[in-house]
Amino acid sequence: MGMLNGLLYFLIILIQTSIAVEGVGVEEYVDEWWQNRESEARAKALDAYHPEPFSVVDHLNRKVHTAFAEMEGNKTNNRRELRHKKRGPCLATNPIDWCWRCDPNWAKTRKKLVDCVIGFGRKTIGGKKGKFYTVTDASDNDLVNPKPGTLRYAVTRDEPLWIIFARSMVIKLNEELIVTSYKTIDGRGHQVHIAYGGQITVQFVEHVIIHSLHIHDQKRGEGGMIRSSVKHYGMRTFSDGDGINIFGSTNIWVDHVSMSNCMDGLIDVIQSSTAITISNSHFTEHDEVMLFGAHDEYSEDKIMQITLAFNHFGKGLKQRMPRGRYGFFHVVNNDYTHWLMYAVGGNQNPTIISQGNRFKAPPVTNPKHNASEVTKREFTEESIWKDWLWKSENDLLLNHAFFIQSGPKKYTLPYSRKDLIQPKHGNYVHQITRYAGTLPCKENKPC
Ligand SMILES: *[C@@H]1O[C@H](CO)[C@@H](O)[C@H](O)[C@H]1NC(C)=O
Ligand SMILES: *[C@@H]1O[C@H](CO)[C@@H](O)[C@H](O)[C@H]1NC(C)=O
Repeated sequence: MGMLNGLLYFLIILIQTSIAVEGVGVEEYVDEWWQNRESEARAKALDAYHPEPFSVVDHLNRKVHTAFAEMEGNKTNNRRELRHKKRGPCLATNPIDWCWRCDPNWAKTRKKLVDCVIGFGRKTIGGKKGKFYTVTDASDNDLVNPKPGTLRYAVTRDEPLWIIFARSMVIKLNEELIVTSYKTIDGRGHQVHIAYGGQITVQFVEHVIIHSLHIHDQKRGEGGMIRSSVKHYGMRTFSDGDGINIFGSTNIWVDHVSMSNCMDGLIDVIQSSTAITISNSHFTEHDEVMLFGAHDEYSEDKIMQITLAFNHFGKGLKQRMPRGRYGFFHVVNNDYTHWLMYAVGGNQNPTIISQGNRFKAPPVTNPKHNASEVTKREFTEESIWKDWLWKSENDLLLNHAFFIQSGPKKYTLPYSRKDLIQPKHGNYVHQITRYAGTLPCKENKPC
């Protein structure tokens, strides 16, 4: 009997492994609990899809202009104030940072962060409605019954939680970390590294904020029994070794993370995830940086709407910043200082609205390795991609970088309407992204 059970178990594992898809173990197809979570997630994603994405584009651009006007105005006030109080100047340079970093009480008012998110993830509330939970223990020794005080314990609770850290620490996850809905992982105030271990998996959930973490050197996970909520644990197959894997999830915000050198992607967003903002982050030392949509035949990714704003794509990067399929991608006020192959690309008719970025092409030392083109259409004839909506507006192109646009003529585009605002020009990007990545915030001081 024991042997029969063993054989059965082996067969189940075999079946699960053979239907593995990109990103995560697919226990969900054989497990009722995951099936339920998937169908709930699908309904949430359809609900979060914005029928007029250009209004979200316009809202963000307006916020950038307003923040600049206020920052200029307050500079004069601050100088006057400085003579009296010895409080350092506020270092915010974009609307998200301007919303919270100047408050010396930021550590007592952490949940105000949810008022700051803009772009497609603008409704993300993370753990706002929950209690604070402090991670005190960097270990990850029990994947099924995680020890109280660990990050794995915190992210698998059923109730909303705003997760903070007792001190700076390095968390080496033994396998992927499966995050549940309504969680904020807030590393502000300490230097928290999630590194050398399993990826962060955000699968079939909603309302997750990932803030101020160093995420690097993540490895492929072998899988095994892993807890995915208070009520459920189960067998997982391998995980890719992404930094963050967002799978079938809605209302996600990633801000001020520093990421490098993971096994697969730094951030992969797949399986009709939508309502996502990735901002103020710093990416280095990686080949395939961001994949938005993993499969040519998965047209449900049409509902993907993602904002990539105020990020710095830096040293040692090669390609995919991002590579997108099907969805709507607003790429705005990012600094691209390094790429080896291309910066922004994709296939399957994605919409790419590139505004106010700075693209600095790598020098061409050998004509055979000429990567001056910012864009790349993968595996598609020009007769087809000429209709894809890829637009560059107010981008700053340096070192002979060039962006090949496509799609209908400019005047027919909704964002060229007179009532929509021009994006802040790429000339300002160096300033806007100056504090991309994790921050050295100290309590009782502006950050
Ligand atoms: C900027 O100045 C305005 C008006 O003086 C003030 O209400 C606001 O709080 C200031 N903002 C910051 C972030 O200091
Ligand atoms: C790189 O390629 C572009 C487009 O084909 C071309 O215009 C440019 O002159 C090339 N640069 C060099 C240095 O060969």
